[in-house]
Amino acid sequence: MRTYLCFINYAVFCIYLNLSPKWLGVFLKNILVTGGAGFIGSHTVLCLLNGGFNVSVVDNLCNSSFESITRVESISKKTVVRHCIDITDDVALANLFQSGSFDVVVHFAGLKAVGESVSKPVEYYNSNVYGTLCLLRQMIDFDVKKLVFSSSATVYGEDAPTPYVETLPRGVTVNPYASSKAMSERLFEDFCIAQPDMSVSLLRYFNPIGAHSSGLIGENPLGVPNNLMPFMAQVAAGTRERLSVFGGDYPTPDGTCRRDYLHVMDLADGHVKALASLETPGCKVFNFGTGNPHSVLEMIHAFESVTGCVIPYDIVGRRNGDLAEFWADPTKAKNELDWVATRSVEEMIIDTWNWQILNPKGYEI
Ligand code: NAD
Ligand code: UFG
Repeated sequence: MRTYLCFINYAVFCIYLNLSPKWLGVFLKNILVTGGAGFIGSHTVLCLLNGGFNVSVVDNLCNSSFESITRVESISKKTVVRHCIDITDDVALANLFQSGSFDVVVHFAGLKAVGESVSKPVEYYNSNVYGTLCLLRQMIDFDVKKLVFSSSATVYGEDAPTPYVETLPRGVTVNPYASSKAMSERLFEDFCIAQPDMSVSLLRYFNPIGAHSSGLIGENPLGVPNNLMPFMAQVAAGTRERLSVFGGDYPTPDGTCRRDYLHVMDLADGHVKALASLETPGCKVFNFGTGNPHSVLEMIHAFESVTGCVIPYDIVGRRNGDLAEFWADPTKAKNELDWVATRSVEEMIIDTWNWQILNPKGYEI
């Protein structure tokens, strides 16, 4: 009778939360988000808070500010614990793990500009690989066994056939950023072999763009943006004069590179869903993309038609290290995580533009 009543209560609770029972296994836990003040991190923190998780953020603020977290708190009406710590600082990290009790780590912290990584390899390997090692060491010492990692489509290397599918081996990486992600993936795989009760999900992002629909949080590149969408938004806003389209002679339908752009809120939702994959031990890999590539020219024309702005552009030489085209096969994330990117390119552009207009100087007030 008692078991029966427990089951009824459990089912009612599930319906109340609009969650499937498997979700309850990961509900209401303490999550440590490294790099949580950044672009993808801040949107994910919002989704985690909305999912009922308690969130602590650690970030050294080298490419962000805690203003993003203040805004996340104002959207969610929930609080986030902040720690301004560099993940390569072993002592500070140990104190943090000592003071909190974390069930899961979602690891975003790292440097992310492909071009910059070529001129600053030491900084990239230090933050991305050594930082990951420091984090893992504390997880071992404090018995934290679950982690979600921000990996990248760049680990497929330059010769992989498209669409990229998780069964492909990691390819030859051609810049320190991509190599640092491939090394970190390998580190987690080896670690999961040594510690069979550890669970890690490696999420290979394609091209996240967009912003939260409130316009309160978004991408806040410091200096000249490296990525297409923030650069285009700044041209539309008049902050920059013209967009350079890197290469018009690629073997693609219109000669410009094609990428798999996905909305950052879809990606953030995906992290919450990925928590369910941590219920079984081992190291898993998931592509996070839409499966639909768009060329640079298609993105410019979509931006113009959605916003009514004109984007002056010049087709210039190719950018070093760019691949002609790649996109995801997102089937595995759909089948195993029940995750599908639902937002259209138009929504990505509307939300980017809304964020740009409302925050012409990013988080600078
Ligand atoms: P971001 O720069 O906005 O966020 C990264 C955050 O990590 C920043 O807040 C930064 O201050 C922090 N950080 C960097 N080094 C740190 C350190 N040593 N200690 C503590 N904090 C540190 O970048 P993002 O776009 O949000 O990317 C998040 C993660 O996703 C990164 O690991 C990135 O490589 C990965 N990723 C991003 C993309 C993309 O297109 N944005 C694509 C694939 C993978
Ligand atoms: N591009 C331009 N002009 C610009 C900026 C970009 O034409 O001013 C082009 C690039 O040549 C490329 C496309 O727009 O063809 C997309 O470039 P992004 O810099 O926006 O994105 P990338 O595909 O080069 O790389 C991004 C992230 C990486 C991540 C990768 C994974 O920056 O961190 O996606 O797919 F690893």
